[in-house]
Amino acid sequence: MNNFDANIDRKNTSSVKWDGMKAAFGKNELLPMWVADMDFRPPQEVIDAMKKRVEHGVFGYTIIGDKTAKAIINWTKKRHQWEIKPSWLMYSHGVVPSLGMAIRAFTEVGDKVLLQSPVYTPFFNMIESNMREVINSPLIFKNGRYEIDFADFEEKLKSGVKLFLLCSPHNPSGRVWSKEELVKMAELCREYGVTIASDEIHADIVAAPHRHIPISSLDPSYSNFIVTFMAPSKTFNLAGLQSSFIVVQNPDMKKKLEEIQKKEGFHTLNTFGIMAMEAAYEYGEKWLDDALAYIKENIDFLKKGIEKELPELEVIEPEGTYLVWVDCRKTGLSEKELRERLIEKGGLAVNFGNSYGQGGDGFIRINTACPRSIIEEGIKRLKLAFS
Ligand SMILES: Cc1ncc(COP(=O)(O)O)c(C=O)c1O
Repeated sequence: MNNFDANIDRKNTSSVKWDGMKAAFGKNELLPMWVADMDFRPPQEVIDAMKKRVEHGVFGYTIIGDKTAKAIINWTKKRHQWEIKPSWLMYSHGVVPSLGMAIRAFTEVGDKVLLQSPVYTPFFNMIESNMREVINSPLIFKNGRYEIDFADFEEKLKSGVKLFLLCSPHNPSGRVWSKEELVKMAELCREYGVTIASDEIHADIVAAPHRHIPISSLDPSYSNFIVTFMAPSKTFNLAGLQSSFIVVQNPDMKKKLEEIQKKEGFHTLNTFGIMAMEAAYEYGEKWLDDALAYIKENIDFLKKGIEKELPELEVIEPEGTYLVWVDCRKTGLSEKELRERLIEKGGLAVNFGNSYGQGGDGFIRINTACPRSIIEEGIKRLKLAFS
């Protein structure tokens, strides 16, 4: 039985979230509710499999075999009703590296790549560092929920966009795109000849009644122009093991991605990344359901606490992800003042909205994948920050 309430001391473990605050915020003495990883131990079966492997003691090059593919295929079938074939699978050290690969494989220097802000910061970074042009179709924030401006989306596609980076579920808005929205995006991309790279790293972290639908699964013809990125990292808290997979059915697209990997000298993953991915998908379902229930309670707790103590803040309840996007604009504070209040006065490390592009100013992102006691302390610190 997992004890999600346990306060596991992560300090001095070279954790980005716990030990990286000095670099990001100037000091480490903050409550870390930023960086999207969990403060939970993964399923015990994962730890046991890794321990057994450590005891073996020889850590040579490791094959990603049929067992790994089978674990992934069973998982996507069971959790997402998506039947993928072993020949559609590729592997990568992470979803961000995969986004970079897709950009290099499917576009040329100077090409236009579309995203929907406010969105996960590396979407911008990967486009820009690969010397492509960011084209943004900002989401519309309406009645406390984010929606796609389809007229604008189509205008942007028409302007000569080559690749669309879809974030599904969407970080930081917490939207889980509906079937209708996904079909509309896919059909428009097909019409304008735009390839879709779908980042579905948060696929498994969805709150009922919402359901994640892999965009490529919606119609057999979509696999002609869609490539999907998934990983066990967010789902089971394995981000430090750096293993993810790519689903690409179109042989030409697969060949292009393989050529990029060849140039990079990529041939396999880390021994422990492979093992953990396999064990998590094979044995982790019950753990995940328990973690999702715990996170849901955390989100409700945070929402109620903010509503009671800080009525000027508005919580955008996530449909997916464990990240809560909070609208602080009614406080009237500038981005700099928000930072000062939260970091200096409240002692709370969150992600600030301006790093997510247009539409992010005045918002903060709070990570709720932590023991309830951290949520309680977080609410106290928020109150102090805005007092
Ligand atoms: C949408 C999204 N994509 C990718 C990542 C990171 O992926 P990776 O660590 O596999 O590179 C994150 C992490 O927060 C994320 O939110």
